[in-house]
Parts: sequence; structure tokens; C-alpha cells
Amino acid sequence: MKRLSVIGIGAGDPDHLTMQAVKALNQVDVFFLMDKGPGKDALLDLRRDICRRYITDRTYRFVEAGSPERQREDLDYTASVEALNRAKQATFERLINEQLSDGQRGGFLVWGDPSLYDSTLRILQAILDSGRCVFEFDVVPGITSVQALAARHKVPLNSIGGSLEITTGRRLAAGRVGDAASTVVMLDAEDAYRQVSDPDTQIYWGAYVGMADELLIAGRLGDVADDIERTRKAARQANGWIMDTYLLRKP
Ligand SMILES: C[S@@+](CC[C@H](N)C(=O)[O-])C[C@H]1O[C@@H](n2cnc3c(N)ncnc32)[C@H](O)[C@@H]1O
Repeated sequence: MKRLSVIGIGAGDPDHLTMQAVKALNQVDVFFLMDKGPGKDALLDLRRDICRRYITDRTYRFVEAGSPERQREDLDYTASVEALNRAKQATFERLINEQLSDGQRGGFLVWGDPSLYDSTLRILQAILDSGRCVFEFDVVPGITSVQALAARHKVPLNSIGGSLEITTGRRLAAGRVGDAASTVVMLDAEDAYRQVSDPDTQIYWGAYVGMADELLIAGRLGDVADDIERTRKAARQANGWIMDTYLLRKP
């Protein structure tokens, strides 16, 4: 039987790895690395660094595969993500069939935690359901960027007895959020916090949290929104990409 481990590696700080993740890393024969293009080299380097740091007395190898890109034209968001996942499914199937022998264990190193805005688990389950590949897999939880953000700002995510919504910049920008007292926004490509009407909302923003380039800004939205927008723009220009998350707390 082929086996796979889907291992949450935390949100960018190698110290985020749990003891369970370290044990799991030390059982993997082949790590599958999905290459997302030149701008994202740092994310692959971190995965290699994690293996160098934590794997002792074991030989392993990396297999890199180009990660399919989401087509942004002509399709709505959900349809384009579904198309992307079908393309990823074909890539994963090929990797498992061609690069893993019976009795070996493959590893997927998933950013943050595999349960949060990540398709690896959905894709592996779809492959199993298709019957085209046979394997067993297990999942090791990781520290999410949401937890890392809250820790760096030293704040709880929820208000007392209040609920928390985790959503995307796209949904916030479209006004498609509920009435939770606290909202965490991820995957924001469009400065969606600009759409929040109450300037007394508190925002806790962080980019590259836990990484060398970490940026943190917190305050009353009406006071800090311009600063966040300027900082995001400068970071995008300097690095070519930005990875940021924020918590909004109603007044
Ligand atoms: C595809 S989702 C993956 C989330 C990941 N599975 C997790 O558990 O955090 C990518 C989004 O996570 C957030 N993110 C991931 N790492 C981050 C970090 N170090 N600092 C700030 N935001 C981060 C950003 O909102 C980014 O757009």
C-alpha cells in the first residue's frame, strides 16, 4: 500500500512545526513540492529548510511539479477554482502513480493547516473516490495564519461569547459577510477592508506573519486604513507578492 501524509507546516516560521509534524516528516520517503512560479520560490525554500532542520538519519527526496494556475478569465470564481482543482488532481495522480512505490510514504507540506483554505484534502479524497489510485492518507494539523496573526497582536479572536467568521477579501468586498462580532479576512487581493463602513471598527493586520519580512499594523480602521493600503502596495512592489490576513472587531 502507498501512504501519504498531509502535514501542516505553520504559516512561515519554522518554529511553528508541532512535535507531531516533526515525527511525520521523519517517516516520509518522497516530498511532493508544488512549484507556483518564480515569485513563490521563498515558499518552496522554506519547505526544504524545514526538512533539512527536522529530518534526522533518514534519506528522502523531493519531487517538484509545476502547480497549475487558476484561469481568471471567462469563469466565475468557484468555477475557476474547481477547474484548477481538476488540473491539480491530474498532477497529484501522476506524482503518486509515477514517483511513489508500494510501501513508500509521500508527503505534502501544506502551508498553515490543511483544513483552512487549502484544497489538498479535497483533491486527495476526489482521487480516492475516482478509484484511479489506491493509497491511505493521514493529516497532521498545523498552526494557521489566523492563529499566528492573533498571537503576534496578542489578542483573542472572538469577543466574550461572540462568534467569529473566517472569510475571504472577495466576500467582504461583495458585502457577503454575516453579523459576527469578529471577522478574519484572508486571500484579500483588493483592499476589501476599505468596504467596511464603520470607521470605529478595530483592525489587526499582518503580512508575512512569522517570517523575516513580517509587517503588523493595528488600530481604529478610520485611523490606519491608509497606512495599511500604503504598506501593502509597497510590500507588493518590493517582493512581487503579498500574503496578509486581518482581524476586524466591531466596536
Ligand atoms: C491559500 S490560503 C492558505 C491558508 C493556510 N492553509 C493557513 O492555515 O493559514 C493563503 C492565505 O493565507 C493567509 N496567510 C498565509 N500565511 C500567512 C502569513 N504568514 N501571514 C499572513 N497571512 C498569511 C493569507 O491571507 C493568504 O492569502
